Amino acid sequence: MTDPRQRAAWLVSELNRHSRLYHENNEPEISDQEYDALYRELETLEEADPALRLADSPTQRVGGQASAALEPFVHEVPMLSLQNAFSSAELDEFDTRVHRHLGGSAGVIEYQVEPKLDGLAMEIVYEDGLLIRGGTRGDGQVGEDVTHNLRTIPSVPLRLNDAPPGRLSVRGEVLFDLPGFEAMNERRERSGEKRFENPRNAAAGTMRQLDPRMVQGRPLWFYAHSAGLLSVGMRLGSQSELSAQFARWGFRVNPLNAVVDGVAGVVAAIEALRQRRSTLDYEIDGAVVKVNAFALQEALGFVTRSPRWAIAYKYPPERVRTVLDDVIFSVGRTGAVTPVACLRPVRVGGVTVSRTTLHNQDELARLDLCVGDTVEVERAGDVIPKVVQVVPDEGHALRPRVRYPEGCPECGTGLIRDAEEAATRCPNELGCPAQVRRAILHFASRLCMDIEGLGERMVDQLVGAGLVRVPSDVYRLSMEALLGLDRVGRLSAQNLVNAIMSSRARGLDRVVMALGIRHVGESTARDLARRFGSIDALMAAGPGELQAVDGIGEVVATSVATFMANDRNRQEIEALRSLGVQFAPIAAARSAGGLVGRVFVLTGTLPNLAREDAARLIEAAGGKVSGSVSKKTSYVVAGSEAGSKLEKARELNVAILDEAAMLALLAAPSGAG
Ligand code: IVH
Repeated sequence: MTDPRQRAAWLVSELNRHSRLYHENNEPEISDQEYDALYRELETLEEADPALRLADSPTQRVGGQASAALEPFVHEVPMLSLQNAFSSAELDEFDTRVHRHLGGSAGVIEYQVEPKLDGLAMEIVYEDGLLIRGGTRGDGQVGEDVTHNLRTIPSVPLRLNDAPPGRLSVRGEVLFDLPGFEAMNERRERSGEKRFENPRNAAAGTMRQLDPRMVQGRPLWFYAHSAGLLSVGMRLGSQSELSAQFARWGFRVNPLNAVVDGVAGVVAAIEALRQRRSTLDYEIDGAVVKVNAFALQEALGFVTRSPRWAIAYKYPPERVRTVLDDVIFSVGRTGAVTPVACLRPVRVGGVTVSRTTLHNQDELARLDLCVGDTVEVERAGDVIPKVVQVVPDEGHALRPRVRYPEGCPECGTGLIRDAEEAATRCPNELGCPAQVRRAILHFASRLCMDIEGLGERMVDQLVGAGLVRVPSDVYRLSMEALLGLDRVGRLSAQNLVNAIMSSRARGLDRVVMALGIRHVGESTARDLARRFGSIDALMAAGPGELQAVDGIGEVVATSVATFMANDRNRQEIEALRSLGVQFAPIAAARSAGGLVGRVFVLTGTLPNLAREDAARLIEAAGGKVSGSVSKKTSYVVAGSEAGSKLEKARELNVAILDEAAMLALLAAPSGAG
């Protein structure tokens, strides 16, 4: 792909996808460093030819989008991000730029160097010294209102000391305390809950809880590091004076912040921080360097998305050595056979690593691995650890080289190499038990049909007993069949049947994703559902029509068209439909302008739809979901045990719908009603 136009478009779509994975799903696939490298490549292309600059390029805005369930939080002053530096040479360049912009007469610049806290960025607004509200960064313009959760954090002052100004917005990071994080994970494990991946994800997940009782008691801290709005009359001359003032107001300020002279001072301070890093009770991923004097900050100003007066220095990813004990081959949902390194357990970047993927044949060849080799393992940020290289030693040549097996490790079928994707696959799609299990697990997973109770153990049993071979078999399961399985009681069988039944109403986008079409993830499924509106239209679409959808390229279009042209897949879709799975045409209302501008409030328990599913359907039709009833509310959708919101709706004369009426409204061609 050498055409700069194509490359730039690809970079935009990749960067936006990764930004969503990082900010909205807390599930990054690549490291910050890899993201930054792609970002820089795009910046360079766009600078060389501004005509390549797309409206949705991440260089044209700051971040991802706010999620549905929490109220939006609008930042009066946008929350910007920082440019990054990865070496002292880049810090030097930063200092040179600062001097150049200041006209060369500035002398040695005073900087404040602060730990770069690896937490969740927040803004908290105070009026006359009282906490009014607070929200996440979101896309920098609009985040999510999490006031209810912020209030539960002990280090967030509810009232400020020391004659606070009329209006103030404080910015900082919410961090998970590391010992507390470990203790919480151990408790979760004991009670059968899933461990949190890392402290940052735990902080993000916690702050987005709807119920503040879930937040209370979690070991969270808030550190203040900058100001959004600072009302006139505050006479503060520098960043360090602001930090001192934060402390007087009652905020926690990082004691490791240091004021230093020139770039030599900066480099020394960053080195000192690096040495303290592993002893800290919270995670940092670098240092933030800020020109100290506000007058100079003002003179320097901003470039599109970041200030000229500050830079984030990022530590290189941590790298450690360990021994490769074994390599096993695992069969995925689409039949891809992936080598997995079994490592002697080692701590790197805050987690203990014992297994990690080696991706594919090319990567095996690159690494030239032998079982028993000493290897270097790296973990950058939140991403999965990576085997970087073998440490050469005398024994290497004598050890057995790691090779792909000839046959599938699960079913013995001869493996084939997919040249285009560098993947090696087992072609026995419907007969290979590993593929069947993974396909069913994917179908039932949270982002797809979300069938609670259909987890790994149950799927193993169902596939093992021959009860389930394709997804539609799930809807054929009877109580009797389930009761015949090992250790399945009447209650859990009934719960599972109920969960299966209610999963039929998840909507078109989720079914499309659940089908497991190669290259079709959450956002592509949503785009397809929106554009085609029904499964029949999608089945009829040729590659050309598919490629006309924004964000869908040749590879995805071909994959979808091939899937839909396959008789077995068409039969499976018909089977799902005849078993009551709804392929609701959610796009009809939207494309006609539908529910755009209408605000819905959900209250009580709906008979069939979970609240998130109802919200998703409303949003897919262009509507908005809000948490409280006001004059701006268009409809209140009420289920059983609806309380004060229903009363308020009656008081304000807001239209009240039940689930059926809501679905009818969503399905109406004009969305009118
Ligand atoms: S000051 C104009 N100071 O890093 C931006 N930010 O890419 C001023 N961060 O999202 C931010 N530690 O949330 C500042 N000591 C620190 C920080 C810090 C972490 C975060 C911040 C921002 C990101 C910058």
